[in-house]
Order: sequence, then C-alpha cells, then structure tokens
Amino acid sequence: MKLGKRTILKKPQAKLEYSSDDLRWATPQAVADYRAQRLKCSVIADIGCGIGFQAIAFAKTCRKVYALDLNQEKLEKAKKNAQISGIKNIEFVCGDALDPEVIKKLKNADIIFCDPQRPPQENSRTIETLSPNILELLKAYGKITSKIAIEFPPQIKEIPFDCEREYLSVNGSLNRLTLYFNELKGTDRSAVALPGNHRLASSNKKIALKTSKKLLACLYEIDPAAVKAKLLAELSQLSKTALYDENKNVFFTSDKLARNNFFKNAFKVLKEVSFEASSLVKALQQAQAKSIVLRYAIDPREYWSERKKWESGLTGTKTIHLFKFKNKAVIAEKI
Ligand SMILES: C[S@@+](CC[C@H](N)C(=O)[O-])C[C@H]1O[C@@H](n2cnc3c(N)ncnc32)[C@H](O)[C@@H]1O
Repeated sequence: MKLGKRTILKKPQAKLEYSSDDLRWATPQAVADYRAQRLKCSVIADIGCGIGFQAIAFAKTCRKVYALDLNQEKLEKAKKNAQISGIKNIEFVCGDALDPEVIKKLKNADIIFCDPQRPPQENSRTIETLSPNILELLKAYGKITSKIAIEFPPQIKEIPFDCEREYLSVNGSLNRLTLYFNELKGTDRSAVALPGNHRLASSNKKIALKTSKKLLACLYEIDPAAVKAKLLAELSQLSKTALYDENKNVFFTSDKLARNNFFKNAFKVLKEVSFEASSLVKALQQAQAKSIVLRYAIDPREYWSERKKWESGLTGTKTIHLFKFKNKAVIAEKI
C-alpha cells in the first residue's frame, strides 16, 4: 500500500493495533507526547480515548490515567496497545462520557482531557456535531475539576469560550487545536511547532503589526500554527521582520536574514518580474535556474505540468523557488 504524507506522519513506531480508519482519528505521537508533558498531573481522564494513543502518552507522565470510550471495540484495541507498550497505569472505562455513573467513576481526576468525535463527512465543522457534546461535558465535568482541556477542530472559527487556544503544527503543517480552560489557560492564544516544542504565545499588551508594502531582500514562509493563532504581530516583533501580505498570501520580509522557529522556510529574493512567460523565462535563465519549485497556490493535478512548462529549456544548475503575488513573479533561492 502506498502511504500518503498524512499516514506517514501518523504511523506509530511500535506494532500497535489499529485500522486505517482508527489512524485517521488517532493522535500523532509527537502531539500525544507534547500534550502529555503539558498536562502532567497525578490523575488524568482521557475522554473518547479511541485506540489509546493519547492515553498511553499520558500514562508516561501521570500517575494514573482513566481511558474512557463509548466504543467497546476501540477500547479493546486501546487495552492491547497499552499492553504492547508495557503500560500498566491505565484504568479502562467503557461508557457514555455524559452518563452520571461514568462521571462518578472519574471523580478523583485532576485533569479532564477530551478528544471528541467529529462526523467523518461534514461541509463545515460545528460545535453541535462533536460527540460527546462539549457544552454538556464542560458542565458535567466542571463539578469534578476546573482543569479541562479539549481538542477542537481547527476549522471552527467561532470559539465561544474563555480559554487558551493552542494551535499545533507538525513538520510545518497545521495538525491540532487544543483548548485549555481555567487554571490550564496560560494565555489567550498560542502556537506550538513540533517536533522541537517551539512555543509562541499572545502578548497581554497590544502590539502593532509591522508591515511592508515592498518585498525586501529576504522572504519567509510562516508556520500555519502562528497564522491560525493570530500571532503575526508577536512574530514580527520577535523576529524583527515585517508582514508582506499581498493577495491574502501572508509572508514576512526583511532586509537582513532573520531566523525564527515559526518560519517554515527562508528565501533570498533574486528578482521580481511580471508573471508573464517571456519576462519570466528570461529571468529564470539569468538566475541560472534548472529546477523550479512552485510556491503559489495551484491545483495539485496541474503542479507537475506547470512546473515542467517553466523548466523546459532551462540550462542552469540552481533550484529556484517561484512565487506569485497578483501579477508579479518573485524568483528566490532557499537560504
Ligand atoms: C477522535 S476519537 C479519539 C482518538 C484518540 N484520542 C486517539 O488518540 O486514538 C473520538 C472518540 O470519542 C469516542 N466517543 C464519541 N462519543 C462519545 C461519548 N459520548 N462518550 C465516550 N466516548 C465517545 C468515539 O468512540 C471515538 O473513539
């Protein structure tokens, strides 16, 4: 079977029990380990534990874990996965998270974590379709502890809670959003880039976002976690760069090379020309281009034919990155 990028990202190390559908919903190892560190405590309850990847990570940082799921089949896989991983401090509970008898069993939990189920097919994500129901969960488990963390679909724009919104990326792709309530809330918005556990947090003070209408000598691609967490002002201040926002393409730019863990890639700008064949081909030849990496939005089915079109006839030796801002082409080299 050919594995897609997403599957490779999630593929667990050990020989654990899972189907491809289980894997679609399961927490990637890097995310599970990161959250287990952040939510380290004595007793934690993992509600909607599925096949147990997050619960197993919690078991390594917490004294005791309750792993709860409605689905007996998934819970059996979670038990087997814990056994394969040599984990002995998980108590498995099968039942509905909102059943008062189930809630009673988890009454000594210090922290409640929940990764709710989303319907597999939905045009847009909404709070109402998450299972268990988040509003009811907050109410019911709020009687046990105020320390609650919930994984949330990052596509939901309106989050009607007072909580920290932590956007996580793995290898530069947006992966998770976790909401932290009450004492678990450290700030309003945060971004974490994995691996590496790099963190960026919203400031209490209002920071003016520095922008540049002109593209300067260096261009940076921004980690989507920082973009989703609306941390551009913080990132610009920290990195001493300015936002270059054309046609809703959000980049940073600077005269001198800057480094930041929330810059996915840095480029040296070689030339700006009109995005039209004759001037672009001439500029690519002058830049000694051989391979062209397209850095603009394009239908994936057309990527290679478009790339081959720009590469045909090039005789240089360099890999050039091609950006498109409105009708302007930017020719750049990766730094
Ligand atoms: C997104 S999956 C969790 C994946 C898990 N974090 C992992 O790492 O494998 C959501 C889980 O919530 C469970 N679930 C849905 N509604 C529930 C409810 N009312 N009570 C308990 N579990 C529920 C589903 O059976 C499913 O296994």
